[in-house]
Amino acid sequence: MTTAFDPIDLSGTRLANRIAMAPMTRSRAGAGRVPTDLTAEYYAQRASAGLIITEGVQPSPVGQGYPGTPGLHSEEQVAGWRKVTEAVHDRGGTIFAQLMHAGRIGHPDLLADHPGGLRPVGPSPVTAAGQLYTPDGMKDFVTPRELTGAEVRATIEDFVTAARNAVDAGFDGVELHGANGYLIHQFLAPNTNLRTDEWGGSVEGRIRFAVEVARAVAAEIGPGRTGLRISPGNPFNDIDEPEPDETYTALVTALEPLGLAYLHVLEGSPASRGLTLELRKRFGGALVLNPATEGPTSAEDLALIEDGTADLVAFGALFLANPDLPARLRANGPYNTPDTATFYGGDHRGYTDYPALAV
Ligand SMILES: Cc1cc2nc3c(=O)[nH]c(=O)nc-3n(C[C@H](O)[C@H](O)[C@H](O)COP(=O)(O)O)c2cc1C
Repeated sequence: MTTAFDPIDLSGTRLANRIAMAPMTRSRAGAGRVPTDLTAEYYAQRASAGLIITEGVQPSPVGQGYPGTPGLHSEEQVAGWRKVTEAVHDRGGTIFAQLMHAGRIGHPDLLADHPGGLRPVGPSPVTAAGQLYTPDGMKDFVTPRELTGAEVRATIEDFVTAARNAVDAGFDGVELHGANGYLIHQFLAPNTNLRTDEWGGSVEGRIRFAVEVARAVAAEIGPGRTGLRISPGNPFNDIDEPEPDETYTALVTALEPLGLAYLHVLEGSPASRGLTLELRKRFGGALVLNPATEGPTSAEDLALIEDGTADLVAFGALFLANPDLPARLRANGPYNTPDTATFYGGDHRGYTDYPALAV
């Protein structure tokens, strides 16, 4: 029987085990949105993961949605990430960068230091309900500026350039963030995509942006180095997808010929397992599963590998708090408890100071 501790070949990249670190924003980038030496230490501590997926990284300045998130669009950022990938590789790990364009989930205040300032963009001028954290406290979301057709194409090119930068920085690949209500998801969902051009108007139109980003990135760095994260039906960030099965089945059917390395499914609820299994059937690459469970993903979820539901299981909060998570899963614990107060921003506390098990 296959277990979580068995290696796996991910389209030519050998992973030491089937335990993935889920992408987690930590809002600790330095000046110029550059990852720091502390970032390198944080990821190196977690290099025993079969696959590390980094925090969301903006492919372009306007793609930033939260304070202190790092980018992959400047030379300084590439140099900063190179230290991270070297530190992880020195410890035998594998690391993909998550490319996250936040789209309408952002605020001009976060982008004010760019020349002329910037305003969040989206498929359509639909404002997200709710507020977000800015340097001056919580503020309402703003109405995004609708991307023109030419700008949609330019945004795809931004993903391509960032993917190339990721490989130049030593990453083993990239994960495209199509989940949780950010730009790619905003194109997929009918309440955020009201377009009537080729990028909307029907299921075929709404999936087009995700497919074209994946196609263009795969053409640039290779399909074996490209993954996609989705969260069908997840209402996070004011997304409303009444019929996720139709959209995501069409999406995965269109992606299948590209030969991507993996599909990463973040399940919105236990009810979405049927759709997960349907997508797995249609997708030729590996399935990374971040399952819907009460509380964080835990040791019990490793059974999903043993029973063939998934190829890898992704752990978020538990990996944040346990740098040596695979060893702890193997030993059946104990586990450090995640400290939510230090999830976003701050210093080494709650970042690099979670202890490993004594050996
Ligand atoms: C602090 C924190 C930051 C997160 N940031 C991201 C992110 O940047 N990109 C993303 O796709 N998901 C993000 N997530 C979601 C996680 O990847 C994961 O889906 C979620 O935590 C559920 O998994 P878990 O139960 O194992 O924690 C974040 C979660 C946490 C706790």
